[in-house]
Amino acid sequence: MEESIKTPRHVAVIMDGNGRWAKKNGVSRLTGHNQGMLAMKEIIKKADVMGIKYLTVYAFSTENWKRSQEEVGGIFNLLVKFVGSELAELDENNVKVHILGDYHEKVPAAAVASIDKALETTYDNDGLQFNIALNYGSRAEITRAAERLCRKVEEGIIKAGDVTEELLSRELFTGDENGNIPDPDLIIRTSGEERLSNFLLWQAAYSEFAFTQTLWPDFTPEEFEDIVKEFSSRGRRFGGRN
Ligand code: IPE
Ligand code: IPE
Ligand code: MG
Repeated sequence: MEESIKTPRHVAVIMDGNGRWAKKNGVSRLTGHNQGMLAMKEIIKKADVMGIKYLTVYAFSTENWKRSQEEVGGIFNLLVKFVGSELAELDENNVKVHILGDYHEKVPAAAVASIDKALETTYDNDGLQFNIALNYGSRAEITRAAERLCRKVEEGIIKAGDVTEELLSRELFTGDENGNIPDPDLIIRTSGEERLSNFLLWQAAYSEFAFTQTLWPDFTPEEFEDIVKEFSSRGRRFGGRN
């Protein structure tokens, strides 16, 4: 750990602005996504050094399928490239890779294979947990959780009256029988947009937000650290009085 700032346990990032960065620099959107991937690598390292336990990135939403086949295919090729070039180092650094989203659904086979390999390789690691939200949409996630609970009722495992926030949260992608991923303390969105775009709607109930004009490929570890430091000075009340 670098210094004694009140480090958030979980930081989530909406990595936005690759397309605008590409336009600004007169290159293809895919080149923008590639630059975005390079920025992401640096943020993973920084989060790890800062002692953040969970880093979640929004990589591909359930709505991003609306984009051209060329762009979508290119994004998943980049994911394969990322796993190919980074997995050994992530593993060496004790990083655990985790996916939020139904990544078997619609995702190209090569990307699914890469993800499976990353999950398997890093399964026992207990350093930074790097969550990739992929084919992720929070409304789909909550709907899926409701359906899973209904099935448990149908099967007689629970009664309708047993449903609690705790039980529902366990069925989300952030749910885990060994203890859920804690809610994000801080959600950062780049590129000047100030919305959630279907990201962690349930989990963001008491998250702090930070918005920056910086386009994602230009986002640096230094800016990340500045935002985290500013977060550390905020008072969070969770509905209480202090
Ligand atoms: C974020 O950058 C990456 C993904 C959504 C996959 P965008 O591609 O949304 O970039 P802009 O918003 O068009 O600039
Ligand atoms: C959100 O960005 C999704 C990701 C960063 C993966 P979008 O660019 O898809 O969101 P909107 O369309 O601007 O809301
Ligand atoms: Mg965008």
